[in-house]
Amino acid sequence: MTLGVERELLRALHATRRAVLAAVAYDLVTLEAIAAAGEATGCPVIAQVGSSAFGLVHGPGLIAAARAVAVGAAVPVGLHLDHSRDLDEIRRCLDAGYTSVMIDGSRLSLGANTELTARAVEAARPYGAWVEAELGHLSGDEDRSTGAGAGEPTDPDEAARFVADTGIDALAVCIGNVHGRTTRPVALDLGRLERIAAVTPVPLVLHGASGVPNEVISAAVALGVAKLNVNADLRAAHLGAMAAHAAADSTCDDLPGALSAARRVLTAHLTSLIQAFTA
Ligand code: 13P
Repeated sequence: MTLGVERELLRALHATRRAVLAAVAYDLVTLEAIAAAGEATGCPVIAQVGSSAFGLVHGPGLIAAARAVAVGAAVPVGLHLDHSRDLDEIRRCLDAGYTSVMIDGSRLSLGANTELTARAVEAARPYGAWVEAELGHLSGDEDRSTGAGAGEPTDPDEAARFVADTGIDALAVCIGNVHGRTTRPVALDLGRLERIAAVTPVPLVLHGASGVPNEVISAAVALGVAKLNVNADLRAAHLGAMAAHAAADSTCDDLPGALSAARRVLTAHLTSLIQAFTA
């Protein structure tokens, strides 16, 4: 199997109101679980490798592992750069064979975000890679839950202009979604999502899928979300599986067993998440 999720596949999913799960991976165990969940469901999946993980582990090593897992999988496994704010990092990942990248100028003014995003699109075109960008601003930390509230919502009229002016392939929307687990349930503004979808032709992306009820996720997919980003629930499942295994092991040193347990739990979690919105 070649590396993918290509632009055409994302567009086809969007056109038929389906979606692909995009899961953040910091290590090989999660990468294997992402591919295994794709294979178990027969669905394409996306491994989100970097940018924050590059501050934690050796980036080229993690990318090489992701590529090997993706190429060996029986379903298309996309390799995506999540929340990059750096055009040089984007170019390095494109050189490494990423199928898609996200440029995140959401902290900038509309004009500066438009300009930065257009430059990312220009950089990605020769590679055939597709580009996601964010408008409005999603709150919360990308690597640990901080209990953040909703961020700055995406304005539908601005979204229409932003998509036209930048040439992006996918738009990350802010409709009450939050990065990380929250103390109070997240309330997604599906009316806003519908208004954005009505004026933008591109697939929409829902970040912060952790903790969002399955029926809300399915409703968002029916309205035009074609990529669902998940991380915090996976981090918790990973840590939980390792901790449970360690607690049950009298020797307290069965790291191989703990890693296998984490892979099993993550695969099961991702599989049921995919099944929930593809049923
Ligand atoms: P959660 O951590 O809330 O699942 O969000 C993940 C995400 O949006 C990655 O970009």
